[in-house]
Amino acid sequence: MTNFSEAKEEVKKAADIVEVIGQYVELKKRGQNYVGLCPFHSERSPSFTVNQNKQIYHCFGCGKGGDVFTFWMEYHNLDFPQSLKDLAERYNIQLPQKRDLYADKKKKELKEQLFKINDLAGRYFHNILLKSADGKPGRDYFSRRHISQETISNFRLGYAVKRWDGLLNYLKSKNCFLDKAATAGLLILKNNKEYYDRFRGRIMFPIFDLNHHNIGFGGRILDDSLPKYINTPETPIYHKGYYLYGLDSAFENIRKRDLAIIVEGYMDMLVLRQHGISNVIATLGTALTSDQIRRLKGYTKDVVVLFDPDDAGRKAALKSFPLFLNEGISAKVVVLPQGEDPDSFVNKHGSDAFKKLLERAAPIFDFYLDQALANMDTGVDGQIKILSEVLPVFMQLEQGATRFLYVHRFAEKTGINEATVWEELKHQEGKRTNERDISQLKSRFSETQDPRKYGSDLQFINLLLHYPEKIDTFRNQEWELIVSDPEIITIIKVIMEKFPSEGNLDRVEEFLDSPAAKEQLRVILMSQPFYSEESVGQAVSEFEKKIAKVKISRSIRKASAQGDMEMLNRLIREKQDLDSNSKSVTKPKQDEKFLSN
Ligand code: UTP
Ligand code: MN
Repeated sequence: MTNFSEAKEEVKKAADIVEVIGQYVELKKRGQNYVGLCPFHSERSPSFTVNQNKQIYHCFGCGKGGDVFTFWMEYHNLDFPQSLKDLAERYNIQLPQKRDLYADKKKKELKEQLFKINDLAGRYFHNILLKSADGKPGRDYFSRRHISQETISNFRLGYAVKRWDGLLNYLKSKNCFLDKAATAGLLILKNNKEYYDRFRGRIMFPIFDLNHHNIGFGGRILDDSLPKYINTPETPIYHKGYYLYGLDSAFENIRKRDLAIIVEGYMDMLVLRQHGISNVIATLGTALTSDQIRRLKGYTKDVVVLFDPDDAGRKAALKSFPLFLNEGISAKVVVLPQGEDPDSFVNKHGSDAFKKLLERAAPIFDFYLDQALANMDTGVDGQIKILSEVLPVFMQLEQGATRFLYVHRFAEKTGINEATVWEELKHQEGKRTNERDISQLKSRFSETQDPRKYGSDLQFINLLLHYPEKIDTFRNQEWELIVSDPEIITIIKVIMEKFPSEGNLDRVEEFLDSPAAKEQLRVILMSQPFYSEESVGQAVSEFEKKIAKVKISRSIRKASAQGDMEMLNRLIREKQDLDSNSKSVTKPKQDEKFLSN
């Protein structure tokens, strides 16, 4: 391989976009495209569209899209060079050595360095736990908690010794850059000159991303002192609320069983796994976020969450309810007996008892209502309290049938007048500032998909993109005269300037800077050809006539301004001739065929 753009093309050829995206997003074939729920914004009906022929994707809801590289970068939160590397590795394509044409080398290097340092530290903690005399407290702790050797090795669990310089000395001996270890969150700089270990006297849980990079750690203290857990802070590779503990080792099983079980704690996840429940993952010390839910929905739409049967659990369930609903996920809740968490429960009662509980999972909103009603104060005070708790949640639900049903059910169960709930809801919403409305965006996109709204600009560019052999015909004509949309002009300019006859149009997007133009391009590429093979010739000549007419009109204006009557007469006759043998630009044969979905 001689250069990066060749390597990039090789990868593009080898990597099928449907296969790559299909690993993370559940795609269904629809017409010539594949559709699924967008991993980049909240939605319940699929607007995320992948086109296998063109090897591009586009979300008609949020406008994100691009090729297989764009997807990889966006989904895994990586830069281009790293994505090229990942995909090249996957498809066994060799990259050129050393020369790195794609900028942002520094950032990429930093991230790779941080992965490496975490990996090094993870191995150090793991080896101490397995082999060192200093690791005894950790070994004792895990055996007290019934964690097996196999689990310890599968999840690379470790132990951080109770010293200020345990990891520090080890990293020094490995000639590791200490400032980078501090950036990774492993060391802390004191008084601007000395480093010390962040994790001391703790059992260690390394956290991995879907590509099995070690991105951070959680560390639990062995006794009752506080804080019980310390986690890696925000770093260039670790973002709280984005990752799920154990997803890297669970996602295949989640897909297979079409169910994900979400627990709160590291220990809960490990113990359940040890009991053969392979589709379990844990949140990492935060309330469930929509980012985490979006990651999941590529694998399943059935989720069971374990919340505590207390005030905090009820509030957490309520908070997560609109997040799930807006992602089209039907989440259920399992409640454990008072005082138990999943870890203690399976250790006491075994995995069959746990599975029985799963079968009795209740829809999340029912769980919330039951909990809230059981704890509700009597009388008006209780009703006001529960209403104020639930209103902000209703406001997050998209308007329509679902919201209607939940409001109805809520009123019924709490005995609050339904009209009052709606009135309060309207009042609260009046106060809300205008958020970016996804549904508006959606309708904007479907307009461009509607052939009846398809103006002449779009007809023209559709012709050029689907029949590139016709580009030459227009190259030396004043085509700008018949196109008015600035984005479309930009795209056509690129086509005319960068793509000599028979050039490959797949790379047009690379020459576009504006996101709006890129978006426009994808929408057009996703669409079907406007003209059939039989009608394209006539369409070309009509566009040529259209250009000629605009030119004549321009000359007519000029001639009349100069008072050149002879010229004026000739031009008007010419225009009449043109008008008489063309009525309008050829209309598409089958309107409905144009809709890509
Ligand atoms: P829990 O307090 O329920 O602990 O916190 P746990 O997971 O049951 O742990 P054990 O069984 O006592 O060992 C649930 C999760 O919340 C996060 C951790 O991810 C923990 O697993 N957490 C908790 C923190 O991040 N920091 C804390 O101080 C406490
Ligand atoms: Mn616990």
